[in-house]
Amino acid sequence: MTDTACPHFPFPDAYGPHGIELHPAYHWARSYGAAAPVTLATGHTGWLITRHDAALQILRDPRFSVSAAAHAEASAEMGPTPPETFGIMTTFHDAGLRSPLLDAVNARQAAHDRPRIEALANHLLDQAEARSRPVDLYQDYALPLPLGDVCRILGITLDDVPDGFADWEATSLDFTSTRQQLDDAWQHQFAWARTLLRNPPPRGLLRPFSAAALAHGGTEPDERITWATVSLITAGHMSATVLIANSLITLLTRPHLIDRLRRDPALWKPTVDELLRYTPFIHSGLPRLALEDVRLGDTTIRAGDYVVICIEGTNRDPRECPNPDTFDPTRQPPTKTVTFGHGPNTCPAAALGRLHVETALRVLLDRHPTLRLTSPPQHLPWRTTSLIRTVRRLPVHW
Ligand code: HEM
Repeated sequence: MTDTACPHFPFPDAYGPHGIELHPAYHWARSYGAAAPVTLATGHTGWLITRHDAALQILRDPRFSVSAAAHAEASAEMGPTPPETFGIMTTFHDAGLRSPLLDAVNARQAAHDRPRIEALANHLLDQAEARSRPVDLYQDYALPLPLGDVCRILGITLDDVPDGFADWEATSLDFTSTRQQLDDAWQHQFAWARTLLRNPPPRGLLRPFSAAALAHGGTEPDERITWATVSLITAGHMSATVLIANSLITLLTRPHLIDRLRRDPALWKPTVDELLRYTPFIHSGLPRLALEDVRLGDTTIRAGDYVVICIEGTNRDPRECPNPDTFDPTRQPPTKTVTFGHGPNTCPAAALGRLHVETALRVLLDRHPTLRLTSPPQHLPWRTTSLIRTVRRLPVHW
């Protein structure tokens, strides 16, 4: 595709004022057709997908490749994201690590780990309560809860996470970072993963990861497995971190819903379903490269075209979900979403990710019935230059 006279994506003023509202350009994209042409941050043109049926078709079609997208020039909508951090299940599969990973994060294991996740949530709240008010629920809770649980799965603890980690991650997701800053941020994360693989803890996933990474006999862990470890740490906590923070904003601005949840805990399940549909959490999307010409509804995607499946846009397709911009936990049946992807690259830890979000919200709201934001959502410190769509801090009183 060569046409450059199309809207820029991520849509420039989609960030506010509320942060959870979607910019009208998402409606434009959906009404344009099954795929809408957009100019990506790299200057390349790509197709934006915001229709549910088109998203499912692409995500299950092997002619749309995630690994080819990672190496495409149009990729890295923000900068030099290492291609090895995409499509990491292939790396784990090739290294014989697919089964250990799935065993550690599947739905059965997640159900088994629920008490540990609740204990971590309570522990983090104990610490937060000991701090001065207002408490920052982003840094003190939404970030460390899923991150701490991913650390547990790997065999380490939050104390093993380097001090600069949150900054490196934020820099690597910020599209105003310079190339040098991006390279530095990724290299710090790579160096940490390399240290973990060289000296794995006695239990947890890092043990088999390390054995596979050093199977060639040297002391330098295999580079692909090291990048996959970096990516797993981010994939394992970042979406849940953002969903916890943004879901709290959604709930705290609807106190009547919190009252209903307290009176009827059975409402938690449909409420979390609806939060996972309604709550935007990334500005980019799921990238794919067409390997062949493919007909998609009214559009032909040509071999070599770059496609971005927009999760939040797709989750609000009115063809799939009536009144999609309304938060309504009573929807029956719950709307199908692409929050965890679809098809061969579906999130292998969807049940665990969902549990992180639900546990964080439940434990917090059970423990702090008087929880409230310190300012209206539009005055919160929203990130305006990040691929993740959330606040920098979430100050609350209780
Ligand atoms: C609420 C939390 C989470 C959300 C919303 C989420 C979402 C997603 C999505 C949308 C994909 C598909 C990417 C694509 O098709 O290109 C994905 C893939 C993946 N997720 Fe998650 N995820 C979450 C939690 C987790 C957790 C807890 C882990 C592991 C500890 C994890 C590990 C992975 C991995 C390894 C992949 C790559 C799959 C592949 O390469 O085929 N995710 N996730």
